[in-house]
Amino acid sequence: MGPVLVTGAAGFLGSTVCRQLVEAGLPVRAYLRPGAAHPTLDALPVARHWGDINDAVALRRALHGCFSVVHTVVLGRYSRRYWNALHRINAQGTRSVLEAAVAAGVGQAVLLDTISAFPAARDSAVRVPDFGIEAAGLSRYPYLHSKREARRIADAFRDALRVVSLYCSPLYGAGDKHNHTGVIFQALQRHRFALAPPGGTSVVCVEDAARACVLAATRTQASTRLVVSSEHWSFRALYDRIASSVRPDAGVRWTIPSCCFYPGIAAATLLDRLGSGSQFTPYLVRNGFRFRCFDATDTQRRLGWTPRIAIGDAIDMQTDWMRRHGHLAAG
Ligand SMILES: NC(=O)c1ccc[n+]([C@@H]2O[C@H](COP(=O)([O-])OP(=O)(O)OC[C@H]3O[C@@H](n4cnc5c(N)ncnc54)[C@H](OP(=O)(O)O)[C@@H]3O)[C@@H](O)[C@H]2O)c1
Repeated sequence: MGPVLVTGAAGFLGSTVCRQLVEAGLPVRAYLRPGAAHPTLDALPVARHWGDINDAVALRRALHGCFSVVHTVVLGRYSRRYWNALHRINAQGTRSVLEAAVAAGVGQAVLLDTISAFPAARDSAVRVPDFGIEAAGLSRYPYLHSKREARRIADAFRDALRVVSLYCSPLYGAGDKHNHTGVIFQALQRHRFALAPPGGTSVVCVEDAARACVLAATRTQASTRLVVSSEHWSFRALYDRIASSVRPDAGVRWTIPSCCFYPGIAAATLLDRLGSGSQFTPYLVRNGFRFRCFDATDTQRRLGWTPRIAIGDAIDMQTDWMRRHGHLAAG
């Protein structure tokens, strides 16, 4: 089998995918942003290729002779002020990777999507995802809007190469260098008596998500869409578990009442339109007040994948990694 190219190879998921591919004895190429630090990748024997995600020449060179590509590059920003960058990196970047893959004769691409793309529920029942239904009103959520554009672009390539789209749950574990879920750890370390929103979500350890990527990238199969989830938590229980990991005297004492949803969305939308750039975005409110719990039985059946790491353990691994890399104060 030819090499597997991993884009975003220095990122949370990408660096874990690289390590697991190396551990599986496969040749790996890492596609990295020029000049970026990549402590998560330093010790790995991978061939390095440098370029922006929209650099067609560098991409084509990196993809030459590859069996497949795992595309994990993302801009994980949620406020409107990043609208153009989100579309350039998340949507146009997906087009650039797929065009280069087709031109280089690569047969298979694994794309990363998010369970936030799905419509939410008001209760915590675990649902089978319907990939045909798009959540409504995405122009309010620039990140999700860019992801939807990426999805439409990917759909146009499904006849040209095999595309496996993995809809990931929020990731926990070591290596979250951009603090995607790490921001919750930091907030809970700062505030001893914290609040949690009333919704809930599926979650998965980054090691398990990476294993799903490796399986999808190395097994020849038809184009498909799959959910990557292992456990389903209310935010209150999840935040309480994180609080106990980062600060033994902390805990989540209150749940924000559900009736705050509409005022919350209105306030966050107003701030976002005024260009505040704060973390209090419509995306945060949208995700916090509803449930997105999705079943991954189909993923297990099709990829032969089973999650192995409990989320409580993944949370402790993340706390430990964040402390060692200066993202959290010592406990
Ligand atoms: N993290 C989660 O909880 C979560 C949940 C659901 C779905 N996902 C999905 O999983 C995928 C990976 O997420 P992640 O958490 O691993 O993200 P991440 O840690 O932010 O990694 C993204 C990588 O993309 C690289 N990158 C950004 N802009 C680039 C550009 N213009 N050119 C080249 N590289 C660029 C970054 O490079 P630098 O290292 O140089 O910054 C980084 O290494 C994404 O598609 C995301 O939507 C993640």
